Amino acid sequence: MRDVQRIAIVDPSDATREPLRNMLLGVESVWLEAECSRYEFFLDVIRQSQPDVVVVALDADHAKALQLIAQLAQECPHTPILAVSGRGDGQSILQALRSGAKEFLTSPVVLEELLTALQRLHRARAPGSGSGVNGAVKADSLVIAVAGARGGVGSTSVAVNLGCTLAQNPQYGVALIDLDLALGDADVALDLMPDYTLADVALNIERLDMTFLRRSLCKHSSGLSLLPHPVQMEDAALIREEHLQRVIGLLRASYTHLILDLSKGFNPTDVTALRMADVILLVSQLELTSLRNTVRVLLTLGADPALGEKVKVVLNRVGSDADIGLKKAEDTIGKPIFWQVPNDARSMIESRNAGVPLLQHAPRSKSQQSVAGLAQALCGKGEAAAPAAKKGRFFSFK
Ligand SMILES: Nc1ncnc2c1ncn2[C@@H]1O[C@H](COP(=O)(O)OP(=O)(O)OP(=O)(O)O)[C@@H](O)[C@H]1O
Ligand SMILES: [Mg+2]
Repeated sequence: MRDVQRIAIVDPSDATREPLRNMLLGVESVWLEAECSRYEFFLDVIRQSQPDVVVVALDADHAKALQLIAQLAQECPHTPILAVSGRGDGQSILQALRSGAKEFLTSPVVLEELLTALQRLHRARAPGSGSGVNGAVKADSLVIAVAGARGGVGSTSVAVNLGCTLAQNPQYGVALIDLDLALGDADVALDLMPDYTLADVALNIERLDMTFLRRSLCKHSSGLSLLPHPVQMEDAALIREEHLQRVIGLLRASYTHLILDLSKGFNPTDVTALRMADVILLVSQLELTSLRNTVRVLLTLGADPALGEKVKVVLNRVGSDADIGLKKAEDTIGKPIFWQVPNDARSMIESRNAGVPLLQHAPRSKSQQSVAGLAQALCGKGEAAAPAAKKGRFFSFK
């Protein structure tokens, strides 16, 4: 179920009310309950509409607006107040907060700041509400970067199937960004023909809002939303780190789970994604090149503690005849294996060729069961049920 935040705004000035209203209308999980152009009438409006949050713009008349905030705080102590003003000096902020506002934003309001403030208010109102909401006011988000230790190791398979699996939870909103900018194939794996891609987003970065961004995502029948790589290979160069920072920032405020399918180039956009991720899944296999590169990647990322501690090694295609032993691999890597996905050529390859994710193509396959376990482990619910590094654990998946 979506968690919508019902908002009422008051601003006597059309010039500032309209852009704020349009910005709020673009946020999927915001419902604009009431809009008022007179401070005098707003208290009645609130009594009738009982919104979750009220937004009071101060600049038309600071004295009246502050008085209104004080009245609102007294009469509706459980309805948080967000004050907005072009004056962002300490004195103005203090006055608003002392009158009873919970948050203060300087206008012109920046979308990311608005989303963050709404999140904070939501969290304060419903402490411990968890990550089970879909939209800009969700309590928490989990950004999962999926990197690979070599080409073809299975990162896209893990990213796409993990995304579709998480999207099964009606309380989650899940999006995947294909950051393999030149040769990505998340769209092929999901058989989606996107109208827009990351290149359109980058070209319109200055006027990017939630409406535009949401329109750029392509929805799969599993519920997963995809922001695809550019269609033209040369457009990959359009996407810079600052674009990606903005896109990830906005999407993480709008979705409970954001999955980033990285290229194998460890280029600047990949590094931005690694930095912004909460968890880095490093997909590897039990063969020499993968293990050697896993050690190299761990060493490089480990040099930056902020990155190193986020890395979890996921072994893919475990159970092939030529596998190096798990114990030996763990000793080489020097870190426990977080998860193992079994070798399941038939389901995986057929599912990829059909452009249908495992949970629709082969829901009972051992690879899908493993991905489902990974999803649970990442969301903190299933680690006890499916410990990763136990030798042969995956053989119990039938
Ligand atoms: N667990 C698995 N069992 C069997 N085959 C698998 C498994 N995981 C992935 N594959 C197959 O391996 C191939 C490569 O997978 P995938 O495209 O996901 O790798 P990748 O790391 O994203 O590749 P790239 O480097 O091109 O981005 C695909 O054909 C896929 O079907
Ligand atoms: Mg890939």
